[in-house]
Amino acid sequence: DLGHANEDLKALIRTIPDFPKPGIEFRDITTLLLDAKGLATAIERMAAATHGPVDLVAGIEARGFLFAAALAVPLKAGVLLIRKDGKLPGATIAEDYTLEYGTDRIAIHADACAPGATILLVDDLIATGGTARAAIRLLRKAGATVTQAQFVVDLPDLGGADRLREDGIEVSALVS
Ligand code: PRP
Ligand code: ADE
Repeated sequence: DLGHANEDLKALIRTIPDFPKPGIEFRDITTLLLDAKGLATAIERMAAATHGPVDLVAGIEARGFLFAAALAVPLKAGVLLIRKDGKLPGATIAEDYTLEYGTDRIAIHADACAPGATILLVDDLIATGGTARAAIRLLRKAGATVTQAQFVVDLPDLGGADRLREDGIEVSALVS
C-alpha cells in the first residue's frame, strides 16, 4: 500500500472550495506541477505501477495530457489524445458523459490506434468516473485493449475507481 508513502505528494495538492461550482472541493494539482521534485516523483511512481508493456498512453484533456505525456516517455509508449469534442482535426468518434460538476463530450481520432493496441488510460483525477468510463468506451470502440488506468488523485467517496474496477480495469492512484 503506497498510501502512506505518497503523503509527500498529497502535501503538494491543494483544495479550493466552491470551484467551479458551490459545494465542490476542487483538488488542484497545479501546485504539484510547479514542484520539480514532486512532478518527477509522481511520474516515477506511475511508471512503477504500470504492468507490462503498453503501446500507447491515452491522456484526457486537459490536465490528463500533462501526466500522460510525461509517463509515456519512460514507458517508451506513444500518446493518444482524448480531447473535448470539436478540437481534433480528423475524423472522430465521440462519447457524452457526466462528471462531478457537469456534462461534456470527448472524442478521439477514429484511426488513433491499431486494433488490439494495449492502452494505459491516464488522468490527473478520478471522481465519479464518468469521464474515465466514457474514455474507455471510446477506446474499446476503436478496437483497443484497455486493462489499466492510473490517476494522480482518487476521490473514493465518489465511487469512480470502484466503477472502473467493476468494468474489469485495474485502477491505481497515487493519492486518495
Ligand atoms: C476533471 C478531471 C477529470 C474529471 C474527473 O476534468 O481532470 O478529467 O474532471 O471527474 P469524473 O471522475 O467525475 O468524471 P475537467 O472536465 O474539469 O477538465 P479539465 O482537465 O480540462 O479542467
Ligand atoms: N474533477 C472532478 N471532480 C473534481 C474535483 N473535486 N477536483 C478536481 N477535479 C475534479
